[in-house]
Parts: sequence; structure tokens; C-alpha cells
Amino acid sequence: MTSQSQIPSLAEPVPQLDLSAQYAAIGAEIRTALERVMASQQFVLGREGAALEEEIARLCGVSHGVGVASGTDALILALRACGVQPGDEVLLPPFTFVATGSAVSALGARPVFADIRPDTYNIDPAEFERRVTPRTRAIVVVHLYGLAADMDPILAFAKSRKLPVVEDNAQAIGASYKGRRTGSLGDATCLSFYPTKNLGAYGDAGMVVTNSAELAARVRTLRNHGQSAKYLSSEPGWNSRLDEIQAAILRVKLRHLSNWQRARRSHAAEYNRLLSQIPGVMPPLAPESFEHVYHQYTIRIEQRDALQKFLNERKIGSTVYYPYPLHLQPLYASLGHQAGDFPHAERAALEVLSLPMYPELRKEQIARVAENINTFITQ
Ligand SMILES: Cc1ncc(COP(=O)(O)O)c(C=O)c1O
Repeated sequence: MTSQSQIPSLAEPVPQLDLSAQYAAIGAEIRTALERVMASQQFVLGREGAALEEEIARLCGVSHGVGVASGTDALILALRACGVQPGDEVLLPPFTFVATGSAVSALGARPVFADIRPDTYNIDPAEFERRVTPRTRAIVVVHLYGLAADMDPILAFAKSRKLPVVEDNAQAIGASYKGRRTGSLGDATCLSFYPTKNLGAYGDAGMVVTNSAELAARVRTLRNHGQSAKYLSSEPGWNSRLDEIQAAILRVKLRHLSNWQRARRSHAAEYNRLLSQIPGVMPPLAPESFEHVYHQYTIRIEQRDALQKFLNERKIGSTVYYPYPLHLQPLYASLGHQAGDFPHAERAALEVLSLPMYPELRKEQIARVAENINTFITQ
């Protein structure tokens, strides 16, 4: 192992994410958009939000978008609009951000996990048959790290059981599967505009997109106190509205999204080129006809924790998404799962590591990350 004294101290840090580089590039446009909102003095459910809904729906290739307060709310509202009720079961992967599961729990429904594929980290439809029960009411798929789940077999299964499919597209806006955008594949799709996402607001924000006018109308009602007309509520809802300031910021960023995605793909190609030479390191899989948007560039390596420490000592940022699969979270202790129940998710949780990835990342920074991984392996 290289000793502390040999660590090059002059090299600049490579953060895992650097939002300030993005703000330096687009700050003037953002400030103009903010001025526009200030001048309008309209802050909730105004023109910016309505325009953003149309623009995001178009990007996803569907006809309706409904802005909400966060990706988590998008999941809760979409599942509720799809008819999920207390006591129902919902199929979902255990290897995801906790919000995918807690949205199910928030409705009083029971998360039923189906293991992931070890190569893509996305839900494995081959698992569905043994997890489905007469109480199953919906399937949630997560397009993890920016890569679409294998939707054809998922949709075929869902159709055979008449189950709605909700896409958790928090990490994969703009990705595609066999020529179709994520967001247009299931019955309803949930987006998060959390600041670190590929399209990130300056606070919390989210959206539900769908081709169903009925589901869109239902989410629109639910996000605003169940009001079907002004001050007339037909069912219990709450306040989950997307504000005008966030919408205006997102509209500015949306104009840059395809360039940013191109930059991410080019960084991924460079990482792949450099890392594919290193034994024991598995770069992310991007199957043909899946267009990955690399929200994360996630490698797999057995000595993950030691590598992360090594990189950290050399001021190279990295993150583990996610160290605890949902079925082993204290939150879900009452479901009675044990280690070994979902082996692919558990192994991924021990071995994945997301490397620096953002559009403004420079080639020499990628080279430095790869060089250090190589040093770690060969030392
Ligand atoms: C896969 C996934 N689902 C759901 C969410 C929840 O989104 P939000 O943080 O906007 O509530 C996130 C992001 O945080 C996510 O990554």
C-alpha cells in the first residue's frame, strides 16, 4: 500500500459532483429567469410551472406533466392515482433510494421486493412470478443510475396481470429504451428535480408524467388538497405544488440538458476506455439499444471500501449509492427479511462505487481518477 507520505498533495481535488461549475456557466440565464418570476409576482401554479409541465412531458414523449413538490411526492401521488390503497402490495426493487419504498409505505401499502439483475442493478422481471400475490396492486421500476430497466418483459408481465407500472425515473430523465424515452414506458412516471439530479432545481421539486388524461387529472387534484374546482375538495389531498421559482430555474436548465447528457456520455466512454484495462473493476453495463444518461458512473469492485478510502485520501470524491438495501433497513424490520433474501442487491450494496460524474468534469480529472484506481489495484 502506498504510504501517506507518497500521496501527491499538489493534485487538485476531484469532487464527485460540482454544481458550482454549472452555476458559473449558466448563472446569468438563471438570474434573468428569477427576475422574470419576481416581476410577475406569481409564485405558485403560474405560467412557469405550466410551461415546464409541457416541456418535460414533451421530453419524455408523453402528453401530460403535473408538477409536484418532490420526487417522493410524485411517487406517492402516482401510486395513489393508480389505485394503491392501504393493505395492497407493490412490487419494487430493494436496491434503490429509500423514497421508492417509503412512498409505498406512506400509502399504507406493503413493499414486496424483487431482486435486481447483477449486471444492470435494475429490477429483474424473472423474479416477479414468485413475488406476485392476489394482493399485488402495482409495480414500481427504478431506472437506476440513469439506465432504463428492461421494460419489455416487465410490461408483458404487468399486462398479463393487469397491473399498472410506475416508473421511478428520478435518476434517468432523457434516457431511452429501444428508442423510447423513459417516462413513456409505464402508466405513470415520477421525476425528481432534487438539486443533484441531471436536471436539478435549487430546492425540492418533482413531476408526474403520463399519457393518461385520467391519471394526470387525478394527480393534479391530489397535489392541491383534492380540489376538483376552486375551494371544492372531492377527496383528501395535500399541498404538493411545484413553485414558480423552481419551475423557471428548471426551464433554463432544460435548454442545456441534451448538451449535458452528451458530456456525461462522453465522460463515461472515457472512463470505460481507461477502466476496462484494469482487472477486478467492472465498468457500468450499457446494453445496446439502452441509452444511458449516466446520472452516476458506477463501477463494481470487491475491495470497494478500501478503494473509496484510497481515493478519498487523494482528494477524489466517490459515493456509495446505496450501502443498505431496503429489505435490510431498520425501517422494514417488520417485514421480517434477513440477509441472503435478495443476494444480488446485497452484493451490489457491498461492491458499487460511483465515481466523479458531472458535465463539466475534465478529461484530465477522469485520467487522474482512473490512474489512482489503477495504482490501488496494482500496488
Ligand atoms: C431513485 C429515486 N427515487 C426517488 C427519489 C426521491 O426524490 P426526491 O428527493 O425529489 O423526493 C430519488 C432522489 O432523491 C431517487 O434517486
